[in-house]
Amino acid sequence: MDEARRLKIAAAAEALTHVKDGMRLGIGTGSTAEEFVRLLGEKTANGFKVIGVPTSERTAALCKELNIPLTTLEETPHLDLTIDGADEVDPALTLIKGGGGALLREKIVAAASDAMIVIADESKLVDTLGRFPLPIEVNSFGLGATTRAIQKAADKLGLSGALVLRQKDGKTFVTDGGHYIIDANFGRIPDSKALSDALFAIPGVVEHGLFIGLSETTIIAGADGIRTIKPSKI
Ligand code: A5P
Repeated sequence: MDEARRLKIAAAAEALTHVKDGMRLGIGTGSTAEEFVRLLGEKTANGFKVIGVPTSERTAALCKELNIPLTTLEETPHLDLTIDGADEVDPALTLIKGGGGALLREKIVAAASDAMIVIADESKLVDTLGRFPLPIEVNSFGLGATTRAIQKAADKLGLSGALVLRQKDGKTFVTDGGHYIIDANFGRIPDSKALSDALFAIPGVVEHGLFIGLSETTIIAGADGIRTIKPSKI
C-alpha cells in the first residue's frame, strides 16, 4: 500500500473512534472519505448501528455496496456528526472542498450536523487557502454572465487567476445537482469571509467550496502519527 493511502486510512480510523452506536451520520465524498466508509462498513457488518446521509451519488453507491444503512435529510433532517475530507485546511479550520464536485451536498449535510470532523493527510494543511483552485458551483443558465460577475467580484478583492469551467472525460462536468463548476485559480485567498460574501451576492452562484466555521475538529495523519487539531483564532 502506498504511503498516501496509509495516511488516509489512519485518519479515517481515528475518526471512526468518534462515531457512537446509534448515530445519525453525514458521510463525505472523496478518496479519504471512502477509506472511512470502508472501515465503517466493516463495523456495521459486525452489528454496529448507524444511519447515514451520503454527500454524493458516488458515496451512496459505495455505502450500498457495503450495506451501510442510508437515510435522507427529508427523513432525518438533523444529524449527529459528519465525517468528510478536504482539499485544503487552514489554521482556523476554514476549508476548501469540492475537488470531487460534491461541495453543495457536502455543505448541506455538514450544516445539518451537530459537528463535523475533517479527515486529511498533512499535505492538505496550508497557512493560507487558495493554492487548490476554489470550486464555485454555478447554474448552467447564464454561465457567461455569472463568470463575468465572479471575475468582477474577484477583481474588487484583488484576487486574480484563471476561472476554468470544469471538464471531465472531454465534457463539461455536471454535479449531482445538475450544475456546473468553475474552478477559480486564485493562488491565495487572504480573506475567505469577504470572498464568500461576494460570491453569495451573485445570483448564478449556487454554492462555493469555502467551508467557514463548519468544522471544529480536523484529524491530520502525517509521517509522525495522528494529530487532532482545533481551530486557532486568527
Ligand atoms: C469532494 O467534493 C471533496 O470535497 C473532497 O472531500 C475533497 O476533494 C477531498 O478529497 P480527497 O480525500 O480525495 O483528497
